[in-house]
Amino acid sequence: MAVRFDPFAPGPSDPYPTYRELRDHAPVHWSPEREVFSVTRYDDVMQVLKNPELFSSRAMFTMLMAGGSEKLPPLSWGMVSFLAKMFVKTRLNPFEFHTARNLIAEDGDRHSQMRAIVNRGFTPRRIQAWEPRAREIVAECVAPLREGRPFDLVHDLAVPLPVTIIAEMIGIPAERHADFKRWSDLVIEMATGPGREDRFAKRYADAFVELLTYFRALARDRRASPQDDLISTIVAGQVGDVGLTDREVVQFVLLLLVAGNETTTNLIGNVVKALLEHPEQAEKVAANPSLIPALVEEGLRYDTPVQVVFRTATEDTEIRGVPIAKGRFVAAFLGSANRDERRFPEPDRLDVERNPQGFPGFGFGKHFCLGASLARLEACAAFEALAPEIPSLGLGQEGVEHIASFLVRGPKRLLLKRAA
Ligand code: HEM
Repeated sequence: MAVRFDPFAPGPSDPYPTYRELRDHAPVHWSPEREVFSVTRYDDVMQVLKNPELFSSRAMFTMLMAGGSEKLPPLSWGMVSFLAKMFVKTRLNPFEFHTARNLIAEDGDRHSQMRAIVNRGFTPRRIQAWEPRAREIVAECVAPLREGRPFDLVHDLAVPLPVTIIAEMIGIPAERHADFKRWSDLVIEMATGPGREDRFAKRYADAFVELLTYFRALARDRRASPQDDLISTIVAGQVGDVGLTDREVVQFVLLLLVAGNETTTNLIGNVVKALLEHPEQAEKVAANPSLIPALVEEGLRYDTPVQVVFRTATEDTEIRGVPIAKGRFVAAFLGSANRDERRFPEPDRLDVERNPQGFPGFGFGKHFCLGASLARLEACAAFEALAPEIPSLGLGQEGVEHIASFLVRGPKRLLLKRAA
């Protein structure tokens, strides 16, 4: 049975029935229009993630940052104006874009060395130190809910919590946090949503110039006078004997910005939505808060915030008997692996007592999410405050609209109201 599937179509409100069809009838699906193999079964996704020598992360650059191709797109007025504006305003070399080192898209030693630069900012001790701050932010954010005022979970809690923390970790002053979120949303829209077809549009160029100029100035400032923050750690970082260029520093900060907030926001939104749809599970957690860490894991499995990662085959190989030629792109659907009935019994049911060992919600192996402990800490702080409230809450809106992205999955807004 042929299954029609476009791995780059902005996520439908419920992608899970399509994933099931793919797993059953086309587990290694070739999309001729996109020239991508999509793998959707747990075992196949893990085979890809466990073999970084055979499946390179370079595809994370090609697919997410370069619009799907290593080749330069045909010259257009929009592109020339975008590059010229970028160079004139930021002085960052546009031709370094394809060669600059980028943690998420590196392999082997270069990846380990890049990761070592920021690892020390993410040790368990360092992350644990953020717990009181996370609790403080949550308490401020949920006050309107407790006072019975209108409350959009996404806008009022799931966005400000991770944005504030990652901004403070990077070393960005509080008054810029709103810009931070706006920039990061635009990056997601341009790289993985409707903006992908129009990457050189003025609105993206303007935002990129603004954010690159800001980060570059910040990097220069910290090179001159280091502080106890991530941007100072990054500017001081070496790969082998070579420090990072301004462009690499700026891209590193941008990665932390986007990865550090778009994901956790969606985790919190997805889990609350799931609990509203599974009231018996919400009751269980409210009655027994020690289940909160398990809720976070099961929530990540049930409705995965990062749906897919990309890899490039480094030599001719095969998956489930399907030949994959050297250079071909593979999309490994984490969101589908986590719902694979071959691995998780009754996968479409949220079950806070499931203990879904080995699920790839944060990826797997060398590129396992750098911020996993931070995301868990933030989510636990949020659910400690929300869990007692949820059984008496309902959805105060018609239906739930999701972010238009093939990469990240989460509700755009989630109005909560007290059940009558
Ligand atoms: C629920 C929240 C989060 C989810 C679901 C998530 C998911 C992921 C996934 C699936 C990967 C693997 C990418 C790959 O294999 O190519 C990843 C990598 C990464 N994540 Fe997260 N993430 C979350 C939160 C965070 C936070 C809070 C940060 C903070 C900075 C962060 C920073 C990163 C970085 C830097 C990488 C790249 C690591 C590498 O390539 O070595 N993430 N994340």
